[in-house]
Amino acid sequence: MSDEVARVATCPVHEISPMHPDILKSPWGMNRRLRDEAPVFQDPNSGIFFVSRYEDVIQIAKDHQTFSSRMMGPTRAMAGSEDPEVIEVLKSGYENVPTMLTEDPPNQRRYRKFVDGAFSPSSLKSLEPFIENLSNELIDTFIDKGECEFLSKFGVPLPLRVIISQLGAPQEDLPLFRKWTEAFIGNLSQQLDKEGILQAAKDMVEFQHYFVARMNERRAEPADDILSKLVNASFDGEQPLTDAECLSMLSQILVAGNETTSASLTEGLWLLIENPDQYQLLKDDPSPEMISRLVEEVLRISSPSSNMFRRTTREVEMHGVTIPENSILFARFASANHDDNQFPEAAKFKLMRNNLKDQVAFGKGVHHCLGAALSRREMNIGFKIILDRMENFRLADGASDPEFSANALLHGMTGLNIAFDKK
Ligand code: HEM
Repeated sequence: MSDEVARVATCPVHEISPMHPDILKSPWGMNRRLRDEAPVFQDPNSGIFFVSRYEDVIQIAKDHQTFSSRMMGPTRAMAGSEDPEVIEVLKSGYENVPTMLTEDPPNQRRYRKFVDGAFSPSSLKSLEPFIENLSNELIDTFIDKGECEFLSKFGVPLPLRVIISQLGAPQEDLPLFRKWTEAFIGNLSQQLDKEGILQAAKDMVEFQHYFVARMNERRAEPADDILSKLVNASFDGEQPLTDAECLSMLSQILVAGNETTSASLTEGLWLLIENPDQYQLLKDDPSPEMISRLVEEVLRISSPSSNMFRRTTREVEMHGVTIPENSILFARFASANHDDNQFPEAAKFKLMRNNLKDQVAFGKGVHHCLGAALSRREMNIGFKIILDRMENFRLADGASDPEFSANALLHGMTGLNIAFDKK
């Protein structure tokens, strides 16, 4: 445990540094103290208000009029964009316009209309065989070795290959998608240095040009994929989406859709290793109902979208703290999911909880995750096949406990070296 993380247990609550990289990696102790002692806490360094209890996070997510998702103007595309070199790079790309995640109703609803159908549970039914085949193919690449680094061999490629197919891009382009996702996530992490920001800007512009070329192809010749729907749809005589709007939505689908599911799949496997009694429950009853319990409890504990930004549109009073108009706050979904008042013994991984459906890993209200049904399908199918084909999961010889990356918004492991027996 790092010194900074150890200090959280004893220091006065106002001395906690929530954006310290060590705390971002290991936020659980801080989350507990903030929930107990400072449910609305202003970080003295960033000025961000941290809202940590379940009922408060729900209140924020449901009240989009007071808690806006519109953060930035078109030019504030990324952290550090005041740097002239970064500005020069961004000029060669497209303007970053607010759409779903970064927009409020009614515009946000308008953007959702273009894609909600494509991600609905019924549209996803036809995708199940693809997810099953892909899960089996990925497992085939390592099952005979009896060990693997699970994040890179399964956690990352499963959702990434699914989204590549949904966007109608060739699977050989996976390394590009991986690079672009990392650029967007790096930008969000608020931990990049000058060089890192510049490289991320270049990668993001490369992503934009790649997709504008694909979008033009789909305008000329529509195919049966989300990209064709996105560029060709128009509702009630409205204008179709512009290139910049499509790019903003595509980047959100890419970022929100990949790292999150990868993180939950990987942490799920770790939770099975760490909790043999719960793993036994699944061995005794590997029914779809139990796998679905596993997925919901993994989502609750892992909560990869740990914090989401909001901006106050008026002065708000919460728990005796005055939050001025135009303040930035974090609705802390991961902390909400670990609130003992909502989930008794919340730190414990328990498949038989009677309120698994209350977990808020996918958010709540108008911004409720577009990809929730897709992600649930990937996790249900992925875990079922993993449990069908392998057993006796454990950390690989010599591997240490997994570590998490330092990111203000997304929480996930940097890797997981496992060993297992082939069934
Ligand atoms: C375990 C997997 C996932 C988790 C934990 C997750 C989490 C979330 C959360 C918490 C929100 C709400 C954000 C807010 O209130 O500001 C959200 C929104 C969103 N998610 Fe996900 N997500 C996951 C998978 C996906 C997938 C697979 C996709 C796309 C294919 C996706 C696309 C989106 C989009 C576009 C939004 C914005 C919706 C809007 O603002 O209208 N997510 N997600």
